[in-house]
Amino acid sequence: MTLWSGRFSSPMAASLWSLSESYSFDHVLYHHDIMGTKAHVAGLEHVGLLTNREALVLTSTLEQIEGEFASGEFVRSETDEDIHMAIERRATELAGETGAKIHTARSRNDQVATTLRLFARDAITEIALATLELTTALREQAAKFSNAYLPGYTHLQRAQPVLLSHHLSAHVCALLRDIDRLCDSRERLNVSPLGAGALAGTSLPIDPGYTAGLLGFREPFANSMDAVSDRDFVAETLFDIALLGVHLSRIGEELVLWTSSEFGFATLGDAFTTGSSMLPQKKNSDVAELARGKSGRLVGNLTSVLVMLKGLPLAYNRDLQEDKEPLFDSVTSALVVLAALAGAFRSMEFHEATAAAAANDDLLGAIDVAERLVVAGEPFRQAHEKVGRLVAEALSTNTPLAQLAMEHGYPGTLEDYAPGASLRARQSPGASGPASRPQQELWIDAESARLHERILRR
Ligand code: ARG
Repeated sequence: MTLWSGRFSSPMAASLWSLSESYSFDHVLYHHDIMGTKAHVAGLEHVGLLTNREALVLTSTLEQIEGEFASGEFVRSETDEDIHMAIERRATELAGETGAKIHTARSRNDQVATTLRLFARDAITEIALATLELTTALREQAAKFSNAYLPGYTHLQRAQPVLLSHHLSAHVCALLRDIDRLCDSRERLNVSPLGAGALAGTSLPIDPGYTAGLLGFREPFANSMDAVSDRDFVAETLFDIALLGVHLSRIGEELVLWTSSEFGFATLGDAFTTGSSMLPQKKNSDVAELARGKSGRLVGNLTSVLVMLKGLPLAYNRDLQEDKEPLFDSVTSALVVLAALAGAFRSMEFHEATAAAAANDDLLGAIDVAERLVVAGEPFRQAHEKVGRLVAEALSTNTPLAQLAMEHGYPGTLEDYAPGASLRARQSPGASGPASRPQQELWIDAESARLHERILRR
């Protein structure tokens, strides 16, 4: 018997059941659904729709059900379409008549919206903390190899030398923005839909502000139709995770390059690499490839939800049930990638000599020659042209650029073009050289501390 059997003369077709049921994936919401239902019970008691005794019975029944889920003892009945119906069915089994009062002044429409917001709120907190942990791993490596430097690339062509710490900090900056963005979304979603009913509220004297407070929501909904139909928070959370995923993919791509024999800048620990089933010599950076690969589904999950939402009229439509699997998948995938990448970075050995040799490619000093000419008073465009010709000569005569610069009587000494000199010269604010590092680190320290506090504050 379904919860709505009163109006129906035949049971649901098996084919519709397979399409309709969501318990198989939404059972993971049990904790947040029970949390919402306990607040609902307290709210009904608060306005006199349940007696104190009834509320006590229902609360302890819900706690018992939560225990059954936690221990894996909960048994789904064949009529449990989704997690909400499963919990109500079990509460009625355990508490009889009292259990049958639990859904007073509530619809699954406001219930599922409440449950999913509670879930998303915690999921965001978890992802934000895991992202912060990855930034810590990156910063540990930056500190461990504090003098290491490598070529910075544009168009994947060697451009200018950069400190490894500067390179890793660039990823940290992006990840810190991801955390901030996740917290923004969490703040916006922190509004309670509970009390909106099916779509129009209720004639019963409920107090949505009271239950909102119990659940730690900032405020209750303003409009019942918006409350049950709004899935902006799902789309926003999915966007935040998708962009985070794109950043993780970029990190993954670089790890793949760095750990290739062609670059040879880094090696990952054995625990974070895989072998080949056929080729005995292989040590593959699958962790980085999967970080890159997972970003596809994260973008896909966002797209799925946006497309699902776009044709819907107000208010609740069953299409909305399709919001869950993309959200669950993105949350799980992000957490798995974040943890593995943090471990992989902690295991990383950076090959300073190889990376420095690549960065000491003397053509990377071309801009330094030009900037010396600028200091000596030449317009930059003219200096650029001159040094361009110098580069062409260096290439055609196979002569080091610095040597040619001296021969042409350009300013500076050979010392000025010695390995590492170019890096040390980059000391403008936020630049890649050692002199700019302390200020950058202070900023990252402060921003990380602010975000850590923000994540925990909620
Ligand atoms: N499982 C449903 C969902 O996820 C719950 C809401 C069902 N409401 C309804 N009117 N059929 O959206």
